[in-house]
Amino acid sequence: MSEILIHTDAGVTTLTINRLEKKNSFTAAMYAACADALDAAQSDSTVRTVVIQGHATVFSAGNDIGDFQRAPVSREGAPVFRFLRAIATFPKPLVAAVCGPAVGIGTTLLFHCDLVVAGDNAAFSMPFVNLGLCPEAGSSLLVPQMMGYHRAAEALLLGDPFLAEAALEVGLVNRIVPPAEANAEAQMLARKLAAKPLESLMETKRLLKKVNLPQVLERIDEEALSFGRMLQQPAAKQAFAAFMEKRKPVF
Ligand code: COA
Repeated sequence: MSEILIHTDAGVTTLTINRLEKKNSFTAAMYAACADALDAAQSDSTVRTVVIQGHATVFSAGNDIGDFQRAPVSREGAPVFRFLRAIATFPKPLVAAVCGPAVGIGTTLLFHCDLVVAGDNAAFSMPFVNLGLCPEAGSSLLVPQMMGYHRAAEALLLGDPFLAEAALEVGLVNRIVPPAEANAEAQMLARKLAAKPLESLMETKRLLKKVNLPQVLERIDEEALSFGRMLQQPAAKQAFAAFMEKRKPVF
């Protein structure tokens, strides 16, 4: 079965991350599928909103660690960067439903969404430093803008998870619901948006994002250069091997 399920109904395209046996971690093929689906949703005039959701127990464990080991990300043309550019520039409303762990890109992609529903079991984390890496997806710009510097530094330097209530307090999520209701709540919001005039939705989103977008795209590229270099360094190799061997890394 496909690891990204794509379904369109009533003006809403829903992308469901569906790789539960690996905690919905993203492979290159999954980034490519999401980028293709966003491109299709952008050009289909009957689609007004996109929902990104996982499972009631897990949103996403971030990038597949084995993929990091096997095929280090290169800046140009890699599916992850197609996906990042697609999500950062997506012109229609994006709604996310997040339950359980949202690690790495599982959290950073949310900064590009317009509305985020969290299950009360959601746990957000950006453990890039713990993996010998640095922030991605524009998060080094977007996290401090949203949370303020010190909370951003805590989230990005320590990399510890923060829970749904903390995410609500800093403005990363709009509302918290029981996990079994998160996907339905996101659908309800998406359908509410889809009943509104598309041009007004798109123009409002364009104006909301206008000042920040050029800097975000520039930061995604700058982070990618550092990230790609750091993937090859001993610290990252140590962290990936430790994860695979289910032990603590020794830096
Ligand atoms: N890449 C590849 N495989 C992953 C993965 C990832 N990012 N996250 C989890 N998995 C795999 C595990 O290796 C395990 O596989 P196995 O059954 O073959 O041993 C399986 O998914 C279940 O994971 P497990 O760690 O046992 O689940 P958990 O419920 O105890 O913990 C997480 C869930 C998400 C907290 C934990 O898996 C985790 O921290 N994952 C790594 C997150 C990460 O560092 N991502 C990269 C960010 S850039």
